[in-house]
Amino acid sequence: MTHITFPKDFIWGCAASAYQVEGAWNEDGKGPSIWDSFTQTPGKIVDGTNGDIATDHYRRYKEDVALMAEVGLHAYRFSTAWSRILPEGIGPVNQKGLDFYDRLVDALLAKNIEPYVCLYHFDLPLALHKRGGWTKRETANYFADYACIVVERLSDRVRTFFTHNEPWVAATSGYVLGRHAPGRKNPIAMFRAFHHMLLSHGFAMDSIRSAARRPVKIGIILNLAPIYPGSNDRRDTAWARRADTVVNRVALDPLLKGTSPLQESALGRAFSRLFVKPGDLEMINRLDLLGVNYYSRSVVTHDPRLPFIPTRPVNVKGREYSMMWEIYPKGIYDMLTRIWKDYSPTCEIIITENGIPLADTVDADGCVQDEIRIGFIKDHLTQIHLAMQSGVPVKGYFHWSFMDNFEWALGYTPRFGLVHIDYNTLQRTVKESGRWFQRVIQANGFPRESG
Ligand code: FCB
Repeated sequence: MTHITFPKDFIWGCAASAYQVEGAWNEDGKGPSIWDSFTQTPGKIVDGTNGDIATDHYRRYKEDVALMAEVGLHAYRFSTAWSRILPEGIGPVNQKGLDFYDRLVDALLAKNIEPYVCLYHFDLPLALHKRGGWTKRETANYFADYACIVVERLSDRVRTFFTHNEPWVAATSGYVLGRHAPGRKNPIAMFRAFHHMLLSHGFAMDSIRSAARRPVKIGIILNLAPIYPGSNDRRDTAWARRADTVVNRVALDPLLKGTSPLQESALGRAFSRLFVKPGDLEMINRLDLLGVNYYSRSVVTHDPRLPFIPTRPVNVKGREYSMMWEIYPKGIYDMLTRIWKDYSPTCEIIITENGIPLADTVDADGCVQDEIRIGFIKDHLTQIHLAMQSGVPVKGYFHWSFMDNFEWALGYTPRFGLVHIDYNTLQRTVKESGRWFQRVIQANGFPRESG
C-alpha cells in the first residue's frame, strides 16, 4: 500500500484550551482562576510570562476560525473557562462570558467546523480554590452545576462535551509537584484532588444528560504514556508496572472498569476510605467517549527515591528528542492496542492531543519551515492507522495545537501550533505543517513514503 487512507468519517481537528489562548483574563466580568494568580507569583513561569493576553483569541476568534477553515479542520476542541462563566465558581452567571462561547460556537458552525467543548482544562476559579479547591468533595458538585449551565446554553449546537482534560496532570502537577496552579506540594491533597476530579466527571454525566437539549456524547480526556522498563532486570520491570499503575491505570481503571488500583492493597483501601465513598467508583465508571492525549513514553529504572511518580527517562543517548520529550511514535500504537486489549471499552476512542514543541521562527520569505513537525505527525498518524488496522476503532485525530500558545510553566517558548504566533504583533502565520495538514485532510491520508 502506498497511501495511508483513513475511514471516510474520520475526524480531523485541532485542540486548544481557554487559558492558553484566550487572554482577556479580567474582561467582561471574568473572575480570576488559579492560573491568573499562579502566573502572578514570581518564579513560577520560566520566562516570567502569563496568559493575560496569550494569543488574544477572545477578540480574534473570527480570524482564527477563518484560518481553521482555510486549513480545512472538521472539528475544533476548546475549553470553557469556568470563572468566565461563573466568576466565583458558584452563584451568579456572567452572561457576557457565556456569550463569548456562544459566538465562538456559531462562528465555527458557520464554517462547518464541529465544536468539541471541554469543561475543565486546569483553570479552577480562584474563589473555589480559596474554599479548598479540588481537595474538597463539594467542588465536584459545583462542577456538575457549572457543567449544567454550559450545556443548557450550548447543547442545541454542540454534540460532544468533555468533562476534564488530563485530571492526572492537574492533580499531580498542581497538588504535589507544585509546577502548575495551584502550586501545592502535598501528596494527600493530590490523591483527594484526583479522586474529586474523577468524581465530578461522574456527577457531570448526570447533570449534562439532564440539561442537554438533544442527545450529546460525554467524554473525558486522559494523558496516557506507555511505560517501559529500562532493562529486563526484575526490579526494573516491577518498577515499570508500578509506574504504569500510578500514571495510567489510576485513571483508566476507575473510568473503564469501575475499580481502582488503590483497592488492591489493605493500605490503599484504608487510605482511600479517607475520601472515596461507597458508590463513587460506579459513579465514575460512565463514559461515551475516551479522549487520548499522547506525547511520549517513559522508560524507567528502579528508583525508590521517586515514590509517587516513578518515571524517569533513561538511556537518553541515541534517542530522538523534541524540546521536551522523546519522540516515540510507536508508543501511541502500544497505548491504543493496550487499552483495547485490557479494557475492551464500549465507549468511542479519539485522539484529543498529539504534537511536538519546537522553536519555530518565521523566515525572510514569511514561511515557517517545520519539517520536523510534519515528520512527527506523519509518524504518529501511521501508528494510529496501524492500531486501527489491528482493530482499535479510533474516531479521529486532534492535533495539539492549532496555534502556538501559552505552555503553562514553560511560558511561550515551546511552540506546538500549526499556526505561528508573533507575540509582539499577534500576527498569525500558517506553518508548513499547517499546509501539509490541510493536504492530509483533503486526501484523508497521505502517501506512505513522502510528505
Ligand atoms: C497537555 C495539556 C495541554 C498542553 C500540552 C502540550 O498536557 O493538556 O494543555 O499543555 O500538554
